[in-house]
Amino acid sequence: MAGEFPLIQKESIRKKLTKVKKLIVTGATGGIGSEIARLASANDYKVGLIDTDEEKLTSLSKQINNSVPLLADVTSEESIKTALNNFSEIPDALVNCAGIVRYGSLLEQNPEDFTKVFEVNLLGCFIVSCAVVKLMVKNNSGTIVNVSSISGGKHPAIGTGAYAATKAGIVMLSEQMSLEWGKDGIRVNAISPGFINTGMSAPHYKDNQERKKRESMVPIGRLGKAEDIAKVALFLLSEDSSYIHGENILVDGGVMNTVLSNISRN
Ligand SMILES: NC(=O)c1ccc[n+]([C@@H]2O[C@H](COP(=O)([O-])OP(=O)(O)OC[C@H]3O[C@@H](n4cnc5c(N)ncnc54)[C@H](O)[C@@H]3O)[C@@H](O)[C@H]2O)c1
Repeated sequence: MAGEFPLIQKESIRKKLTKVKKLIVTGATGGIGSEIARLASANDYKVGLIDTDEEKLTSLSKQINNSVPLLADVTSEESIKTALNNFSEIPDALVNCAGIVRYGSLLEQNPEDFTKVFEVNLLGCFIVSCAVVKLMVKNNSGTIVNVSSISGGKHPAIGTGAYAATKAGIVMLSEQMSLEWGKDGIRVNAISPGFINTGMSAPHYKDNQERKKRESMVPIGRLGKAEDIAKVALFLLSEDSSYIHGENILVDGGVMNTVLSNISRN
C-alpha cells in the first residue's frame, strides 16, 4: 500500500521505538526460569540471568539474545549486589524463580536440610527482591513475580520437607511486598505452578505410571509445560496486568479444584 513501510523496515523502527525493558530472572538456567528468560528476550527484554550453575549459565546466555550471565547465589546479599552491579542497568522487572526441594518425611529431615530449602526458596526471594527494589525506586516503577507452587496453597505434599512451608511463605511475602512497595510504583504478584513437566519435577514423569496418574488428575487433561508458566509471568510483568497487584495466580490446569471430584452424589 502506498505510504506504508516495507515490513522489515517497520519491524526495525518498532524495535527502536520500543524501550528495551530490563529483567532479572533467578534460577535462570532451570526448566521454568530458562523459558521465562527465552520468552522475555523474544519480547524485547534485556535479561540478566542469575543462577549458581556456571556451566549452564554460559551455555544459556549464548542461546538467548541480549542476555547477561550473572553467576550468583540468591542466599548471599553480597553475591546478589555484585551481580546487579555487573548487570549495570536498573531492572524494570524481576522474576524470583530459584528454588530447591529436599525430599523426605518431616521426621527424616534434619535442620540443615530444612534451613537450606528455607534459605534458597524464601530468604533468597527476600534478598533479591530488596536489592532490586532499591534500584527500581529510582524509576518509581517495576514489576515482580515470585514463583510459589500449588504446594504453597492448601496442598502440601507428603515427603517434601520444608518445601510447602517455604512456598506458602512466598505467597504471604508477595502480599506484604505489594502492600509496602505499591506506593513506589512497584507491582508484585505470585504464580503457583501445578504439575509442570520440567526442571525439578521432570524426574517424576520419567516413570510412565506416575506420569499417567498425575495427567489423569488434571481437569484440563495434560501436564503443564514451562511455556505455560512463562506466558503468565510475562503477562504479570506487562502493562496488560497493570491493575493486578498482590495476587497469587494458579497455573495448574485446574488441579487444585479436584479434592471433591471423585465423591459420588448418589
Ligand atoms: N517444575 C515444577 O513442577 C514446579 C511446580 C511448582 C513450582 N515450581 C517452582 O518453580 C521454580 C523453578 O523450578 P524448576 O522446575 O524450573 O526447577 P529447576 O531445578 O530446573 O530450577 C531451579 C534453578 O534454581 C537454581 N538455584 C538453586 N539454588 C540457587 C541459589 N542459591 N541461587 C541461585 N540459583 C539457584 C538452580 O541452579 C536451578 O537452575 C522453583 O521455585 C520451583 O519451586 C516448579
